[in-house]
Amino acid sequence: MSNLFEPYVIRDMVIRNRFMRSATTSAYAEEDGTVNDPIIRVYERLSKGEVGLIVKGHLYVTDNGKAHKGMAGISNDKHIPGLRKLTDAVHKHGGRIVAQINHAGVVYQPDRAGPSVYSEGDWTAREMTINEIESTIEAYSDAAERAMQSGFDGVQIHGAHGYLISQFLSSLSNTRTDKWGGSLENRMRFLNEVYDEVRGRIGNDPVLIKINSDDFSQGFTVDDSVKVAKNLRDKGIDLIEVSGGGRGEQKELRPRAKSTDPDLSELAFGGHAAKIREASKPTPMALVYGFSKLETMQKAVDSDLIDMISLSRPYIREPDLVKNLKAGQTEATCIRCDGCRAAFGNAIMTCVLE
Ligand SMILES: Cc1cc2nc3c(=O)[nH]c(=O)nc-3n(C[C@H](O)[C@H](O)[C@H](O)COP(=O)(O)O)c2cc1C
Repeated sequence: MSNLFEPYVIRDMVIRNRFMRSATTSAYAEEDGTVNDPIIRVYERLSKGEVGLIVKGHLYVTDNGKAHKGMAGISNDKHIPGLRKLTDAVHKHGGRIVAQINHAGVVYQPDRAGPSVYSEGDWTAREMTINEIESTIEAYSDAAERAMQSGFDGVQIHGAHGYLISQFLSSLSNTRTDKWGGSLENRMRFLNEVYDEVRGRIGNDPVLIKINSDDFSQGFTVDDSVKVAKNLRDKGIDLIEVSGGGRGEQKELRPRAKSTDPDLSELAFGGHAAKIREASKPTPMALVYGFSKLETMQKAVDSDLIDMISLSRPYIREPDLVKNLKAGQTEATCIRCDGCRAAFGNAIMTCVLE
């Protein structure tokens, strides 16, 4: 049997296999951010399907950190009972689950505020005050504490995809001239303080991060990502999940993240992941975007590119994917058509293919 189906340990957390479900918002929470039974059923189903480590879809840490309609929250104690029900449902079937904590920054529509004045399309965001920066950092650690009170096995800080932490990291969206902007060291300060506060609050429980390998803009490149990963390793992060795509993304730059190894060609960020791996060893690493074939998953682990296989859309189509692969299926049947996203905000996402 492949070692992908054997247990893997992060800190003291024993995970039943190497399969991770990358954070995937159901975009179906109640208006006040509480999770409901249809969402809980999605997570229970994934755990029944033997996914080892589930990352809960992003949860806003403050009410003005809500990125979109239907996003669930962890900004208030009222969110705890629903989240507790959700973690219980996952644990009942042997899965592990961590809470992805996030803040929208400039994406929060009623009051767009981020590191700096920043425009995209027809909107312009304002610059956060120092007080706002400091209270937001504290909100991440309050959220982490609520996550543990809700029964999560740990937290994942969302540092990717152009949300607040990613906005601070990018010189495109962060043009501050104080200690929060300028050099990469200064642009990393927000993330570092979030990490320190979260770690201080939840102690020995696992703290994971999702980072971009590249924003595919000139604001944050793989060289920056390598430095961020190394810095997080030195600080004691428990797992780095590598992703990509941020503010100001130019889609045509994406090919630069691919691996030159033909066996890893389905991985969108395989080449960049190798550089990040080299810099952040021995910290456990996961990679997301593109995994389909079991053969590629095995190669990625055997060649020591990563430790965990992270997927999102394939589990929307096949919540039993892990079981199916274990039983001999050779690849996921999801074709990443993104049809599932059409339901965003209006219904629980399901696969639209036959
Ligand atoms: C419907 C949907 C919701 C998503 N929600 C989140 C999220 O809450 N947090 C996050 O970090 N990424 C989110 N993502 C991105 C995925 O985690 C993942 O990085 C991306 O889909 C690539 O992986 P895949 O090719 O296996 O789908 C979402 C993706 C989809 C399709």
